[in-house]
Amino acid sequence: MAAPSVNRRAATAMPDAHPIPMPDPVTADDLVSTAAEAASLAALRRATGAVATTMERHCLRVFLMIERMASDGALAVDREVAFCASCLFDIGVYPVAATADVYTADGRRFARDLLEPFAWPAERLRRCLDAIERHHQLTSQWLHGAEVELLRRADLVDAFPRVFRFGLPRAWLDDLFRRVPRDGLYAEIGAAVGRMWRERRATIPRIFMPPRPR
Ligand SMILES: [Fe+2]
Repeated sequence: MAAPSVNRRAATAMPDAHPIPMPDPVTADDLVSTAAEAASLAALRRATGAVATTMERHCLRVFLMIERMASDGALAVDREVAFCASCLFDIGVYPVAATADVYTADGRRFARDLLEPFAWPAERLRRCLDAIERHHQLTSQWLHGAEVELLRRADLVDAFPRVFRFGLPRAWLDDLFRRVPRDGLYAEIGAAVGRMWRERRATIPRIFMPPRPR
């Protein structure tokens, strides 16, 4: 399993001099380093119909939080798994992936079809797909892999930073939110929930329940 990446192009020092610096401003394109990562980002952009959307910035912040939490906790995280999952974890809300199923299961299916051609070992692909499908679980997901639990935590921090931080320094988060603004996030979440309410409301509680055994 790869250690968390520490390299950045055009890096500048963080306020707390953390060893993972970020460019300013940071974009998803700065971070793509493999074909699977490029395919995941391209799929997200196909889904949303544009570049650097509110959703893309949400995904980017989530990935950067995963890296920071992994570094702070000295946790080995597979960067490519984490990046691809970060691009794809909410893709099940968009028509490119949506069916009548639970949206997190749609995200898993879409990601499986996208990533299978890269012929990852089954365990790596499983961790990426679990991170997508389990990101709204209400209990710890360490059992399924560090990427799974850290994505779940990062999504909570990005959605509710006044409630959840999981040890992320306040100053680092403030700096991240300046570099990758959260503008429009709640409107985006509201629109997605509204679509689900109209099109598949019976599936909404199941987003938070353990997925079907596979
Ligand atoms: Fe989500």
